[in-house]
Amino acid sequence: MDKSELIKEINRLKKEKNTVIMAHYYQMGDIQDIADQIGDSLALAQWAAKTEADIIVLCGVHFMGETAKILSPHKKVLVPDLEAGCSLADSCPADDFEKFVKEHPDHTVVTYVNTTAAVKALTDVVVTSTNAKKIIDQLPKDEKIIFGPDRNLGNYINSVTGRNMLLWDGACHVHEQFSVEKLVKLKAEHPDADIIAHPECKKPLLLMADFIGSTQALLNYTINSDKNKFLVATESGILHEMQKKNPDKTFIPVPPNDSTCACNECNFMRLNTLEKLYLCLKNESPEIIIEEAIRVKAVKPILRMLEMS
Ligand code: 13P
Ligand code: SF4
Repeated sequence: MDKSELIKEINRLKKEKNTVIMAHYYQMGDIQDIADQIGDSLALAQWAAKTEADIIVLCGVHFMGETAKILSPHKKVLVPDLEAGCSLADSCPADDFEKFVKEHPDHTVVTYVNTTAAVKALTDVVVTSTNAKKIIDQLPKDEKIIFGPDRNLGNYINSVTGRNMLLWDGACHVHEQFSVEKLVKLKAEHPDADIIAHPECKKPLLLMADFIGSTQALLNYTINSDKNKFLVATESGILHEMQKKNPDKTFIPVPPNDSTCACNECNFMRLNTLEKLYLCLKNESPEIIIEEAIRVKAVKPILRMLEMS
């Protein structure tokens, strides 16, 4: 099937099966264009909690599908490619994290949404990069907190909240790859541009940023700013929506280290394609399945996050 046939078939199947297609901002442009809803991790969870569709196709990575399934257990949740993992979630195996939590029994456990359902089941409250500061600010000032798995986001949240959270030593292989050296060069070439960065980036890069925020916050910043040019340090999929919302502004992706490529892409996010989206709608597979014992534990910290957001 060519692209226009695929799009036609996806739209037909979607209606026939009362399906909602949700996509993260890091998906390829053609998937974002066909989705009913596109957003950041928080928005995807909020939509999944209240959708009236029978089937959710989550075009994103595995943990995003799991979060949707945890919140909507009676719906079928499909992800076009189940191999779409996340290096940050992988950097926090549930068994090791459980040991860490047990070693610090007097701590409240806060985890970033980029984790497996099994890690969420060990968590008191989940956060995303959109609401992390707001949620941590609501916890008592003297509360001892474990934060996992992202050490860069954890360090950043410590710096903006004045906390001293105990950090799990995990990271995202995409956001850690941005080159400060190439960014310095780009900024010299485009002194009029604002540098905007996701808090999963390393500290030396964040220190150069004019604005730090989640994918949604970065997008909002580009819409509301008087500036016309932005150097963007997050996965380059977000440039698609930034350009759509700001057709007259210029967006330049910050390149990774060790590559001749100008963009920094998440190989996991890019596993989903229009063809796989079509096949997953047609076959209603691959489906996210979660053990009920894990799900009932994992849903509590996610609902707490939604209440505190
Ligand atoms: P957002 O919550 O900002 O969309 O981030 C998700 C993610 O995977 C970042 O790498
Ligand atoms: Fe995970 Fe990083 Fe990809 Fe986001 S960009 S899904 S944190 S590997």
